Amino acid sequence: MKFKIYIMLLFLFCFGAACSSGGNDNKEEQQQTASSSIEVADYGQTEEGPAKLYTLKNKNGIQVEISNYGGIVTRLLLPGKDGQFDDVVLGFDKLEDYQNDHPYFGAIIGRYGNRIAKGSFTLDGQAYSLAINNEPNALHGGPTGFHKHLWQAKEIEREGAVGLELSRVSQDLEEGYPGTLNVTVRYLLNNANELLIEYEATTDKPTVVNLTNHSYFNLKGAGKGDILGHELMIVANRFTPVDSTLIPTGELRPVEGTPFDFRTPTIIGERVNADNEQIRFGGGYDHNFVLNRKGEGLELAATVYEPTTGRFMEVLTTEPGIQFYCGNFLDGSNIGKGGVPYAYRTGFCLETQHYPDSPNQPDFPSTVLRPGEKYETKTVYRFSVK
Ligand code: BGC
Repeated sequence: MKFKIYIMLLFLFCFGAACSSGGNDNKEEQQQTASSSIEVADYGQTEEGPAKLYTLKNKNGIQVEISNYGGIVTRLLLPGKDGQFDDVVLGFDKLEDYQNDHPYFGAIIGRYGNRIAKGSFTLDGQAYSLAINNEPNALHGGPTGFHKHLWQAKEIEREGAVGLELSRVSQDLEEGYPGTLNVTVRYLLNNANELLIEYEATTDKPTVVNLTNHSYFNLKGAGKGDILGHELMIVANRFTPVDSTLIPTGELRPVEGTPFDFRTPTIIGERVNADNEQIRFGGGYDHNFVLNRKGEGLELAATVYEPTTGRFMEVLTTEPGIQFYCGNFLDGSNIGKGGVPYAYRTGFCLETQHYPDSPNQPDFPSTVLRPGEKYETKTVYRFSVK
C-alpha cells in the first residue's frame, strides 16, 4: 500500500515537473513572440494612396519604425549603458515633412545611390540622361526617386525576427533609368539586436542599380548634439577620392597617412577639419571607402562607438563600398523630431553601396543589371552596448 502511494507520488511529481517545465518553455516562447511584434498605424495620405507606419519590436525592447512611404526608417529606439532608450536616427514627426525636400533622412535610395556624373551614362551604346538634382550631377535616384514613392508592404516573420517586405515596380525610364525594375526591400529586426536589410531587383532591359538606405545616425540620440565624438572604424585600406563636385576620379587611393585612415577606431572630429584637399572637397567626410572584402557574403564594414552612452553599432554588408558622410550639409534648416533643428554634423550616414558614378567608371565593380539576372545585396546594422 505504502509502496503504491510512493509510486503515485513519484508519478505525480514527475508528471507535474514535466508539465511545468513544458509550460515554462511555452511561456518563454510566448514571451518571445509576445514581445517581438509588429504593429501598423495610419501615417497620412500620399498621391499614390494612404501611407502606413510599421513598428517592429524585438524581445529586448529595441524598436524600429518604418513607413511604406519611401521605405523610410523614421525612428530607432536603442538602450544605452544606463538602460535609457533613445531614438538614434534623424527624421521628422510627420509624413508631410518627408514629402517635402529633405536630405533623404532614413529613406531607401534608388535606382542609384550617390552621384552619376552630369546625370548621364551610356549602356550598350545607348545614352541615358537623368535629372541634374545636385549641380552638375544626378544624386540618389533623382528628385522623385524611391524615397518619394509609396511601396506595397507585407508583414513578415522569420525565426526570432519580425519584418516588413516592401516592393514596387519602377517603370521603364522612371527618372530616366531604362528597364522596368521590380524591386523588393526587406527590413528584419531580430532578437540579436540586428536590423537586416535585404535588397532585390530584376529588370526587363539592361539597366544600372545601386540601392542603399540613407539613415542618419546619432548614437547619443537624434537632436542631442553633434556626432564628432563618435569613434569610427572602417575596414578599408583604400577610398575613392573625388573631384570638387564629389565625383570619383577613378583612383583607388590608399588611406594610409591620410585623414581617411579609419582602420583602427578613431574619433570622427579628430581629423574632420584637416588641411587636406579631399576634406575640402567633401566639406568634411563625404567619401566612398573601398571595403577590404574576402568573399561574397556579409562581412564587417564599419563599427561606431559613442562613449557617453556606450552604444555600439556594427555594419556588415555584401557590398564593395560604404559612403561615410558626416552631415556636412546639415545647417539647422531641417526641423526634426520634437521641433529640434538638425545642425551641422549632428548625424552621420554609413551607406553600403557600389561606388559612386560606377556607370561611367569601367574599372569600378559593375552596377549593370541585365534581364535574367537578380540584383541581391544585404546589409546588417547590429547594435549593442559596451
Ligand atoms: C552624399 C552627400 C549628400 C547626402 C544627402 C550623401 O550620400 O554623399 O553628398 O549631401 O547624401 O543628400
